[in-house]
Amino acid sequence: MQAYRASIFHLEDDPSTIDGEAHAFHADGLLLVEDGRVVACGAYAHLADELGDTPVEDLTGKLITPGFVDTHIHFPQVDMIAAHGEQLLDWLERHTFPAEAAFADRGHAEQTAEFFVEELLRNGTTSALVFGSVHRVSVEALFAAALKRDMRLIAGKSLMDRNAPPGLTDTVETGRADMEGLIADWHGKGRLGYAVTPRFAISCSDAQLAMAGQVLAEHPTVWMQTHLSENIREIVDTAVLFPDAADYLDVYDRFGLVGDRSVFAHGVHLQGDAFQRLAKAGSAVAFCPTSNLFLGSGLFPLESACAHGVKVGIGTDVGAGTSFSVLHTLGEAYKVGQLRGESLDPLHAFYLATLGGARALGLEDEIGSLEPGKIADFLVLDLAATPLLARRLAAAKTLEDRLFALMVLGDDRVVERTFVAGVERHRR
Ligand code: GUN
Ligand code: ZN
Repeated sequence: MQAYRASIFHLEDDPSTIDGEAHAFHADGLLLVEDGRVVACGAYAHLADELGDTPVEDLTGKLITPGFVDTHIHFPQVDMIAAHGEQLLDWLERHTFPAEAAFADRGHAEQTAEFFVEELLRNGTTSALVFGSVHRVSVEALFAAALKRDMRLIAGKSLMDRNAPPGLTDTVETGRADMEGLIADWHGKGRLGYAVTPRFAISCSDAQLAMAGQVLAEHPTVWMQTHLSENIREIVDTAVLFPDAADYLDVYDRFGLVGDRSVFAHGVHLQGDAFQRLAKAGSAVAFCPTSNLFLGSGLFPLESACAHGVKVGIGTDVGAGTSFSVLHTLGEAYKVGQLRGESLDPLHAFYLATLGGARALGLEDEIGSLEPGKIADFLVLDLAATPLLARRLAAAKTLEDRLFALMVLGDDRVVERTFVAGVERHRR
């Protein structure tokens, strides 16, 4: 058994929907881990008796939280993050597609995958839903890197059979064959999962979306991820390509892609009716504030989505997003709210980054909090990682104030150690 003594904070429910406390905070807490799972989590004074002769690692002054869940990120976009100048469709053409073309090469994919998963862990992300490039080999490289570290990673190869340069398209047949191969080889291996990944409606023919829906129906434990209603020009072009669809969401719905294992990135321009349909279907939306600001896509209506009962997670959306840090992304989520006249509560923000993300992926029984029985994916945060943070937190009087300062000022520098299934995988 492993034992860690520190302050401990986690969400046990959604603070925006339940009456009473949704979180647990133990100023002097103890986390007990055995065989990669949480055995107990609570006040040191209450749990000290259960220790027996287990040595306690004293981390007094640090804060233990669950690992972060990133519900939307692109593996083959690490090398073109921070590309200047365009909004979505031009940005894809000019920066993204050329970078993704390089992932046809196994060596490049493998080397980048090592960097990518290390960067996730360095930022405290222990679980992620990830887009690969169109190439099967990109997802193989990513899965192999995540498997080595026992990470809870779900990924898929992008399906794109039109409106992309040659070398970056597949066909209905090759797309299906690659997916079937990846599902057979990787889905359920270790903690890995496969997600059927039609890039977005513009890059998929009717036939390919139909095939994606069939594969999903044939594999009920597989996930689905795509982009939805991110950018105005994208929405207009989609309506032209799918004249029979009632709206953007209906494009996916007609092909059986809107279900309780579906995660839609962005949803910036969705309104009540679409949120209602997403909630009814049990689908989730990934809120990607740094990306939505960077590409000028718009301000996600978080309060409306939540009020309609839609599951929401946080997405860094690297490389349109500008940081791997979910913590930093929460700070930007707050600023998006400010521009909408909404005030994101810090407890709700940390919910989105942990248990909310887990629920968005249907993994709330396994990850997202430190309740006994869950997999021990957790972080040790250094609250004095920068002089400014240390000074600001010394002045903070409430838990909410401390968490808020952490999400506004914090980033990868705060993440001192990252544990995956009880094993330390990163230490600053
Ligand atoms: N829509 C289709 N592809 C992409 C992508 O790579 N990034 C973002 N942000 N939106 C997309
Ligand atoms: Zn994206």
